[in-house]
Amino acid sequence: MTRIAVLVGSLRKDSQTLKLAKALTKIAPEGLEFDFVEIGDLPFYNEDLDTDTPPASWTRFRKEIKAADGVLFVTPEYNRSMPAAIKNALDVGSRPYGDSAWGGKPAGIVTASPSGIGGFGANHHLRQPLVFLNMPAMQQPEAYIGNLWNLFDEDGKIVTEGTEDFLKSWLEAYAKWVADHI
Ligand code: FNR
Repeated sequence: MTRIAVLVGSLRKDSQTLKLAKALTKIAPEGLEFDFVEIGDLPFYNEDLDTDTPPASWTRFRKEIKAADGVLFVTPEYNRSMPAAIKNALDVGSRPYGDSAWGGKPAGIVTASPSGIGGFGANHHLRQPLVFLNMPAMQQPEAYIGNLWNLFDEDGKIVTEGTEDFLKSWLEAYAKWVADHI
């Protein structure tokens, strides 16, 4: 089994992006195992806290990322960029210096929005730190999911025609990307 850590950029309970992430895990190809990694409890990165006894949630988070073979980011766009929770998680996982949890892990990025732009700004801003963190991020196919309010039925199943097929093909490409980069 290939273990994929899933980071969701919206922290709210009824998040549509979380629904999308869950739907993705249900239609993914065999061989991928998904672990949703909590990022909402991570204190803002502060070097003063990064002592021999850092916050317990940082330690837990770093371990979970290190245990993963790849990382799937599923996130909304906030003000044309990634939500602060995602950036903070990247920062927390990148330290202590010389012991980053991210290095070499193949990344997939799915952004989503109620608007037609589909979180393009978040998607591309997220790619910038991944370069520095040495995470190969799949370039193609890109996944900008619009119409987020109308994507699911009451059970969280994707109802928009074509979207599920697109996401399945995206996941197949991502599974191959991960296999090629671990
Ligand atoms: C947003 N939203 C948003 N949408 C977008 O397409 N581009 C943007 O720049 C922003 N900016 C933004 C900032 C902040 C602070 C919030 C709270 C929201 C709307 C956002 O896409 C919408 O709330 C999504 O539904 C959020 O996803 P969840 O929480 O439903 O997963």
